[in-house]
Amino acid sequence: MPTYPPEPFRIKVTETIRLIPPEERKAKLKDAGYNVFTLKAEDIFIDLLTDSGTGAMSQDQWAAIMRGDESYAGARSFHRLKAAVEDIFGFKYFVPTHQGRAAENILSACMVKPGQYIPSNMHFDTTDANIRARGGRPTNLIIDEAFDPANPHPFKGNMDIGKLRDFIQKVGVEKIPFGMITVTNNAGGGQPVSMENIRAVAAVYREFKIPFFIDSARFAENAYFIKLREPGYGNRTVIEIAREMFGLADGMTMSAKKDAIVNIGGLLCLNDEVLFQQIKNELILREGFPTYGGLAGRDLDAMAVGLYGGLDEIYLAYRLAQTAYLVFRLNEVGIPTIQPAGGHAVYLDAAHVFPHIPQSEFPGQALAVELYLEGGIRGSEIGSVMFAHPDPDSGKMVYPKLELYRLAIPRRTYTQSHMDYVAECAGKIKARADKVKGYRFTYAPDLLRHFTARFEPL
Ligand SMILES: Cc1ncc(COP(=O)(O)O)c(C=O)c1O
Repeated sequence: MPTYPPEPFRIKVTETIRLIPPEERKAKLKDAGYNVFTLKAEDIFIDLLTDSGTGAMSQDQWAAIMRGDESYAGARSFHRLKAAVEDIFGFKYFVPTHQGRAAENILSACMVKPGQYIPSNMHFDTTDANIRARGGRPTNLIIDEAFDPANPHPFKGNMDIGKLRDFIQKVGVEKIPFGMITVTNNAGGGQPVSMENIRAVAAVYREFKIPFFIDSARFAENAYFIKLREPGYGNRTVIEIAREMFGLADGMTMSAKKDAIVNIGGLLCLNDEVLFQQIKNELILREGFPTYGGLAGRDLDAMAVGLYGGLDEIYLAYRLAQTAYLVFRLNEVGIPTIQPAGGHAVYLDAAHVFPHIPQSEFPGQALAVELYLEGGIRGSEIGSVMFAHPDPDSGKMVYPKLELYRLAIPRRTYTQSHMDYVAECAGKIKARADKVKGYRFTYAPDLLRHFTARFEPL
């Protein structure tokens, strides 16, 4: 069993959670169109829908909130955030945004034209959708090992350098306004990217003069994985590793709701002055003045402090161990998960739990329903509900390679006994898996359909 270090914090404020009775869970789910996103939070017992904005802020962050300067322009809060952003990421320019997708929207608005391609290891859903919304084509070029859930490759988030080079040569540099990489790779199991890979990706982009942006939502977890797993990095501090990563890129987008442990916030950083002017104009149109970018001054201060809190190595050791512990407990009850354990979440292999449910009937969605019915637990489907889409050329349905169900662990929020409870409930579902049926849509929007779709059981 992996070691689970005692939580490196004590609890100063509590929030009551309750498990409502099974008949009520059944009725609430039916009312919600079997979409767990539509449930009321008060009807959830353990909420592992996302690690985004759901972490517990530290007392230092709450204290920083009281220092928030709410001036419209040039607030002290902005300058405190600027100092932290420059220190950690080192880009020449940045704007705050209200969250990660706002940074993606602005970057896409300024750079993506219809028919252009944006390569990455794997785009997350909001990045994918923001590129598509501008007529672009997000392209995932991850290593093949990422599609084998049992493969224990230490850096399964790596981009396939050969595929990247071939892709650039095939579509032509003029059709690629920028390239990306996501650290860690949320859509593919929260798996890290090695420094060696980031360096190689940066070299290819540089060779073809393609600007390189890192989707940095979980940069600190990725940096800690590099420290743990990559030869030569064991004695480097996480902040040094982060600085080296960002030194290889031309810019980054970031949802600060993850590794900056804030409830709301994002960043868009870059080195190109001309693009920065365009970005500021777009930001003013959509988010707000460039020194607050859709956030309150207090949010900027919480982010400035949280960026360092998320890099604390004792916290990171506990954080990754908690995830590894849940993976171990789930595997123990016979639920296969993506291996090895990733950073922020555990990815259950829904296709293996329900081998009798085809992709078109959404095995991950079936697991979402069962875990709520069994134990009031909420996670999210990362499979065909989220990613199946008609091919823009042929119109034929394209299904993702993996049908996953994600249990994302909010930072510093749940304890070891909560993790044990989740594993026990999953074990009960495994025991009756052959009786579970699939689902079909009764409503689905064109983009980001998992948020608002409605279903009925088959
Ligand atoms: C890798 C990655 N990029 C971007 C985003 C979008 O960030 P936000 O939810 O703050 O808009 C997320 C959110 O989950 C993410 O995991």
